[in-house]
Amino acid sequence: MELNITCIPGDGIGPEIVREAKKVLNKVAKCYGHQINYTDILMGGASIDVHGVPLTEEAVETAKAADAVLMGSIGGDTTTSPWYQLPPNLRPEAGLLAIRKALNLFANLRPAVLYEELAEACPLKPEISEKGFDMLIMRELTGGLYFGERRTVEENGVRKAVDTLTYDEKEIRRIAVKGFDIARKRRKKVTSVDKANVLDSSRLWRSVVEEVAKDYPEVALEHMLVDNCAMQLVKDPAQFDVILTENMFGDILSDEASMVTGSIGMLASASLNDTKFGLYEPSHGSAPDIAGKDIANPIATVLSAAMMLRYSFDLDKEADAIETAVKEVLKEGCRTGDIMSAGCEQVSCSRMGDLLAERIR
Ligand code: IPM
Ligand code: MG
Repeated sequence: MELNITCIPGDGIGPEIVREAKKVLNKVAKCYGHQINYTDILMGGASIDVHGVPLTEEAVETAKAADAVLMGSIGGDTTTSPWYQLPPNLRPEAGLLAIRKALNLFANLRPAVLYEELAEACPLKPEISEKGFDMLIMRELTGGLYFGERRTVEENGVRKAVDTLTYDEKEIRRIAVKGFDIARKRRKKVTSVDKANVLDSSRLWRSVVEEVAKDYPEVALEHMLVDNCAMQLVKDPAQFDVILTENMFGDILSDEASMVTGSIGMLASASLNDTKFGLYEPSHGSAPDIAGKDIANPIATVLSAAMMLRYSFDLDKEADAIETAVKEVLKEGCRTGDIMSAGCEQVSCSRMGDLLAERIR
């Protein structure tokens, strides 16, 4: 098969982790007889430095022409980087929001899994973590507060800022369908998270989700308020299968869920539209403090590449091979600094990439 992949190395540790993911993908291609064509584009700070904007039209066109996009990370240190002296719409993050919108990537899948081998890193009490957990956060990604009208004005000498939170039923329905579709292939439970005791957008969310649920009688649906969900994630994470939620709630809850695993350097994500096309990126950020030191953990990006093979190319065997390689390397006791524990061997980012590639069969 021929795979046309656009890569966004981005900023901070992005270029290092994407390099290792390519290493692993190339080994997959070699073992399974595929041909991968990569085209790199600039986004975020890397694009600002060259073009003065975080994403160009040409970059969007290049991404659109590919079968899938593999991304590292974007952004820098918000207190020291000159990128954050620019107006908000020209900062690195604006590039990421713009590409999500331009490619209509409305469904963001963020799995949060407690790896047996890394159970020690889990910050929860053993009586909670020993039950394990394996959840998937399905976050709406192109609507809500992050894409609503916003402005800052001054009225009678008083500064005022306005952000608007809007959802229409079509936006809710399409993400709910994705959530139920995936729950059907998992443990058949959807927890829809909202703030329906306060927000109109949440009340509409709830009723549309209930309509969609009628088409999935085998999937159990429960509703949960977002503040309660934040609490339940640390109290009893094993209760969750698919968490279905809007943009901002999903942003916040997915960071919480990943931290609860104790290994944010391990968590992949996929952002999908209505077709097979997707953008795949690690759930973590650009970690500018460790950029260029060859100590970052490339596993989240490597696992994102596995998600890409699975969702955009239907290459399940190949995706399995990557996931198995990750488990093997962990079992053998190889760790990057972020997931290091006593008795293990600490390896660099590039060494981790080599070890993973070696184990692809
Ligand atoms: C994420 C990030 C982004 C978001 C930022 C960088 C705009 O936090 O992917 O979760 O809020 O979506
Ligand atoms: Mg976030």
